[in-house]
Amino acid sequence: MSSHSLPISSLLALFFLFVLTRVPTILSVDDPRYSTCRETLTCGSVSNISYPFWGLNRLSYCGQPGFELRCENDVAEIMMNENTLRVLDIDPERQILKVAREDYWNGYCPTKFINTSINYDHFNYGSNLRNLTLFYGCNLPTTPTFTVFTNCSINNTLTDMSYATRNMLVDTRYSTCRGIVVVPVYEAAAKDLEVNPMTIQAALRGGFELQWKADNDECRRCRDSDGVCGYNQISNSFTCFCSDKPSETTCLPPTEGTF
Ligand SMILES: *[C@@H]1O[C@H](CO)[C@@H](O)[C@H](O)[C@H]1NC(C)=O
Ligand SMILES: *[C@@H]1O[C@H](CO)[C@@H](O)[C@H](O)[C@H]1NC(C)=O
Ligand SMILES: *[C@@H]1O[C@H](CO)[C@@H](O)[C@H](O)[C@H]1NC(C)=O
Ligand SMILES: *[C@@H]1O[C@H](CO)[C@@H](O)[C@H](O)[C@H]1NC(C)=O
Ligand SMILES: *[C@@H]1O[C@H](CO)[C@@H](O)[C@H](O)[C@H]1NC(C)=O
Repeated sequence: MSSHSLPISSLLALFFLFVLTRVPTILSVDDPRYSTCRETLTCGSVSNISYPFWGLNRLSYCGQPGFELRCENDVAEIMMNENTLRVLDIDPERQILKVAREDYWNGYCPTKFINTSINYDHFNYGSNLRNLTLFYGCNLPTTPTFTVFTNCSINNTLTDMSYATRNMLVDTRYSTCRGIVVVPVYEAAAKDLEVNPMTIQAALRGGFELQWKADNDECRRCRDSDGVCGYNQISNSFTCFCSDKPSETTCLPPTEGTF
């Protein structure tokens, strides 16, 4: 008997065998948190972003509080206090977030004077930075410390702008200033700026590095066990989403800890 003339009963038996073996797979649907958090985030030039970051398609339980990314016109942004920081790069291995002040991206004459301020609960400044101090409307004389640079038109008022490539001790001499703003830049950019004031926009756009503090080891152990890193918003702690259920640590048996 050739294979294409199997009796109908054999075909039926094969059909039921197929259905029976498929049923368990259909029943064991992945935990939706596992599937959701397995997705990475992409916004403009920033891609393949995962834990501890969340936002867009990654729901809040996929990352830690304080690591929300927004995507505005294909620009990834993170809010820290009053600052909107443009995300330039994320290095998960070194836990480095490279950002630039959004309000200084297209110029150095912002309509509002806001100092740089970061969320120290989760971040520290990188080690290769220098603070640029920008003085607005002080009428400062040119000294070796300052570069009197240019005029800004802010709210229709012409304002002189000068800068120091270091952290300045702001004393009463500066009480006449309309505003003083501190912005971190790379050490190399500050050195360029000391030689050539025309590099100021490049220095500001170059941004600065922040190191994040989230424990990467627990996430690595979770991933190594085929889990997906996430956050338990009830206990405010790390959680490892396994394909069937969450675990406090890894997806390796014996697992324990659910919520
Ligand atoms: C995406 O990120 C993960 C973890 O950070 C890494 O292992 C993987 O190689 C990255 N993939 C691409 C395409 O960059
Ligand atoms: C410019 O005007 C806006 C709106 O009135 C105000 O919030 C802002 O502080 C002003 N900026 C400066 C530098 O005075
Ligand atoms: C920014 O910080 C400097 C130095 O700490 C301070 O003198 C200045 O007033 C601050 N500027 C604003 C806008 O808060
Ligand atoms: C820049 O100034 C801030 C406070 O405004 C300070 O916390 C930080 O350590 C300074 N960074 C450098 C590189 O001096
Ligand atoms: C800034 O404006 C003042 C007044 O209009 C002018 O005297 C000065 O030369 C300007 N400075 C620069 C650097 O453009």
